Amino acid sequence: MKSFLNISDLSSVELRSIIDSARSRKISRKNLNKSAPDQDKPFEGKSLIMIFEKPSTRTRISFDIAVKQLGGSTIILNPTGIHYGKGDETIKDTAKVLSEYADIVMIRTDAHKNLVEFKKNSSIPVINGLSEQSHPCQIMSDILTFEEIKGNISKKTITWIGDGNNNMCNSLIEAAAKFDFNLKIGCPVKYKPNKKIIKWAQKNNANIKIFGKPKDAVVNSDCIMTDKWVSMNDKVNKKAKKKSLKNYQVNKKLMSFAKSDAIFMHCLPVGRGEEVTDEVIDGKQSVVWTQALNRVHAQKSIINWCLT
Ligand code: CP
Ligand code: NVA
Repeated sequence: MKSFLNISDLSSVELRSIIDSARSRKISRKNLNKSAPDQDKPFEGKSLIMIFEKPSTRTRISFDIAVKQLGGSTIILNPTGIHYGKGDETIKDTAKVLSEYADIVMIRTDAHKNLVEFKKNSSIPVINGLSEQSHPCQIMSDILTFEEIKGNISKKTITWIGDGNNNMCNSLIEAAAKFDFNLKIGCPVKYKPNKKIIKWAQKNNANIKIFGKPKDAVVNSDCIMTDKWVSMNDKVNKKAKKKSLKNYQVNKKLMSFAKSDAIFMHCLPVGRGEEVTDEVIDGKQSVVWTQALNRVHAQKSIINWCLT
């Protein structure tokens, strides 16, 4: 049974096939309406259950549209409205029950261990729709977006600015190893990537450099990425964290040190005026709306990969 919990779980060949098929499927339906099914309807008669332990706009809607385009249906569950590991029914039992009803499950969780526990007891594939540790679906769609604009990501330089120890940065580090791009991370010492992931990256020959000065991380880069300074349910002193990251804002000046044709990426939702200025996110180099759209196409491909 295949599941999609982390980019590091898949081989480079598998990940490449997901991106390539997302791209060709997207091209082949370019004249269809947004929610019209693809001609082959590979998910016809099948359903995806989604469980959201925390809020979501893009993940919720893009998975729903992805499944419509694949010819299937979705069921969205709120964990407070079902029996879900809260004493009355274990996650193990929920996983066994949902495996009888649907063909695939997507979970957004506050505790990555819930995904692992669910997967262990499920007989259908499980997709990570964001955990506190990783956000693999977002990074896969970001690679799709990058390649549509800039060509193959291999050997290109991507810069991450801001919180180096969050779910997005973790998945980006894993992707750097698997897709063979150079990753430069600009972050304060306090928010450096965690040691475990850096050790994994080194073992997997990832080309990653960490810089204290944001400018040094941005020089010669093809793409600048950032994320909210305080993630959902981040158990920190928000004011103090924002203060430590205040010099890591992506603004016009910082963008000017990157390649002149560099793109700006953000997974959204955005803290306008904090990690990025309006001028940058609304500017010509920003590709954030295409990133949101491409969640649909990357996730269709992830669903297909899980089921084959
Ligand atoms: N980027 C992303 O996952 O957005 P949502 O939180 O709206 O799903
Ligand atoms: N790091 C952010 C990503 C949101 C899509 C968070 O976890 O809140």
